[in-house]
Amino acid sequence: MRRTNLALALALLALSGCRGCTSSRPPIHPNPNMYNQPRYEPQAASAFFYNGQAMRPPVPGTVARGELRDLTKDGPYWTGKDAGGMFVTAIPKPPQDEVRRNDYPVDYAERGKQRFEIYCAACHDKGGDGKGILFERGKVPTPSFHTDKLLQMPDGQIFDTITNGTGLMPAYRYPIPVRDRWAIIVYLRALQAHRLARSGRPVPAQVQPAPPAAPAPTSPQPVPPQPATPQQVKPQQVKS
Ligand code: HEC
Repeated sequence: MRRTNLALALALLALSGCRGCTSSRPPIHPNPNMYNQPRYEPQAASAFFYNGQAMRPPVPGTVARGELRDLTKDGPYWTGKDAGGMFVTAIPKPPQDEVRRNDYPVDYAERGKQRFEIYCAACHDKGGDGKGILFERGKVPTPSFHTDKLLQMPDGQIFDTITNGTGLMPAYRYPIPVRDRWAIIVYLRALQAHRLARSGRPVPAQVQPAPPAAPAPTSPQPVPPQPATPQQVKPQQVKS
């Protein structure tokens, strides 16, 4: 009994001595279990796959959950263009899929201001005069948002510019999701309207900063019960 106690005390002492020690050598695993499993590092090469890459691309035609975009029905929202290929002049209603995916409410003007200051202000400056860092340092001609051209530019064309870029302006389709692009446009219109109002000029309809119309409710609103007279009751009403 004494011997066991002594052995135990020694073992504890030895173990406590290990606390806080660092070692440059890999730890010893008396029982390796599943510690080391063969795997690839991200971006690693592989002799197994024909294209030499360990990372596999998604199967062509794969649509991530919630990413299916019905361009025939909701084209204007995703592309800024209507069925005839013309730029839309108002911010389209978000399709149900999009509403469901972004199931948190968003204040378009506030979100737009925040995104604008992150993504656009660097070049177009906070007031939208085109006096950002690109102009200051490199004299790159950056348009002001307060010119007649930009006041008249349809919302859909601004959306398209953010999505695909234009001339010297890069595309922002990847860093800025679709809903944020529309929010930025709401804020851009607010900047324009504010400037026009300050200089006493009338604010044209397309410059009124209007968030998209509320989407249709997902489920039909409950109809309050009506006192049914025999003439009013139609067969399908009875069925439900
Ligand atoms: C890296 C600098 C840079 C950033 C960031 C940038 N722009 Fe631009 N933008 C430009 C330049 C430069 C042009 C002029 C393009 C040309 O005509 O060559 C331009 C042009 C435009 C135009 C006018 C297009 C036309 O056809 O006249 C709009 C609208 C616009 N930008 C909106 C935005 C919005 C909205 C954002 C933020 C999402 C943004 N830009 C971010 C540099 C930038």
